[in-house]
Amino acid sequence: MKKVYNFSPGPSVLPKEVMLKAKKEFNNFNNSGFSILEISHRDKSFIKIIRNSEKIIRELLLVPDNYSIIFCHGGARGQFSAIPMNLFHSKEKVDYIISGYWSKLAAQEAKKYCLVNEIDIREFTDKEMKLKSMEMWKLTKDSKYVHYCPNETIDGVAIHPTPSCFYKKIFIADYSSSILSHPINIKSFGVIYAGFQKNIGPSGTTLVIIKNDLLENVNYFTPSILNYSLQNKNQSMYNTPTTFSIYLAEMVLKWIKKKGGLKRINIVNQNKSKILYETIDKNNCYINKISQKNRSIMNIVFHMQSSFMENLFLKEARKNGLFFLEGHRKKGGIRASIYNAMPISGVKKLSRFMKKFAIQNY
Ligand SMILES: Cc1ncc(COP(=O)(O)O)c(C=O)c1O
Repeated sequence: MKKVYNFSPGPSVLPKEVMLKAKKEFNNFNNSGFSILEISHRDKSFIKIIRNSEKIIRELLLVPDNYSIIFCHGGARGQFSAIPMNLFHSKEKVDYIISGYWSKLAAQEAKKYCLVNEIDIREFTDKEMKLKSMEMWKLTKDSKYVHYCPNETIDGVAIHPTPSCFYKKIFIADYSSSILSHPINIKSFGVIYAGFQKNIGPSGTTLVIIKNDLLENVNYFTPSILNYSLQNKNQSMYNTPTTFSIYLAEMVLKWIKKKGGLKRINIVNQNKSKILYETIDKNNCYINKISQKNRSIMNIVFHMQSSFMENLFLKEARKNGLFFLEGHRKKGGIRASIYNAMPISGVKKLSRFMKKFAIQNY
C-alpha cells in the first residue's frame, strides 16, 4: 500500500494497529463467525465493549465517581442544542466565550433557549492575535454557566489552562478536537463533550462527561434522544447506540493506554506541534499570527502570501504523500491536524517538505 500521511481535521487518521485489527476481525468478531456490525447492541459481547470503553475513559481522564459518562448521537453540534435544552432555562443568563468558529456557532444555537451573553476574548493587532487570559474574562455577574471551546479546530487557537473553582460558575467545554490529547482536570467542569471523530474514533458518537447533580434538573421538554438523564439511566442504550463507532473507539482507547496514557501522549503531542511551529517561524513564507500561548497543539494553521502559493503548496504536498492539508473552506490557508494517531514521522516529513518548498519557491 502507498505510504501516505493523513492530516484531515476530522474524521481523521486512526492508529494503524487499530485499523489492522478491525480489518482482521471485520467479518469474524471474536471468532464468532459474525461481524460486530451484525449483532445486537443488547448482546453481551457489545455490552462488554461499551462498558469497557467507559471504564478506560474513566481511567485515562481520571473521571471522579460523581460524574457520569454518556455516549450520545448527533455529533458535537447535537450538543450545541442538548446543553441548553437539558440544563438552561429560558430566562437564565449564560456566558458563551467566543474564541473562534465553533464557540460562535455554539452560542448562536444556545440563543434559541436562553439569554446568551457572548464574550469575545480575541484581541487582534497587526502583529498577532491573542486570547484574553481566563482571569480577564468579564463574566456576567448572575450567570450560572460558562461555555467555551478549549481548542478551536478551524482557527488553530487554544485556551490551555482549565478553569479555576474561583469563578463559582459551572464550566462547560467543547473538547471535540483536544479530548484525550492531554490530561484534563474534570473536577473543574460541569460538563465536557467531544465528537468522537478526532481523537476517540470514527464519527457518529459524542462523548459527554457530566457531573451527576446536573442530571437531576434536566428540562422536561428535552427530546428523549438528547435527554442526559434518560440516556444515563439507560447506560447510553435508550435507543440503538452507534455500535461500530463505539467498537472502534474501545480499540483506540486501549491503544492510548498502551502508549502510556495522557501524560505521555501530551509530551509526544507537544513535540509534534513544536516541530511544525518552529518550521513556520523560521521560514518567512509561512504566516501564523497566533500568539505563542494560544497556539493549538492539535491543529496547526498557517497562511502563505497568496492563494496561488497555497494551492501550489497543497498540490506539491499531495505529490509527496501529504494529504488533506487544506484549511477550512470558510477560512482558507493550510491546516495540519496532528491528532494522537498522527505519527511523529508524518510531522517530520511535513516539516522537511515545508523547508524544501520554502527554499524552492521563495
Ligand atoms: C470544536 C468542534 N466543535 C464542534 C464540531 C462539530 O462537530 P460535528 O460535526 O460532530 O457536529 C467540530 C467539528 O469539527 C469541532 O471541531
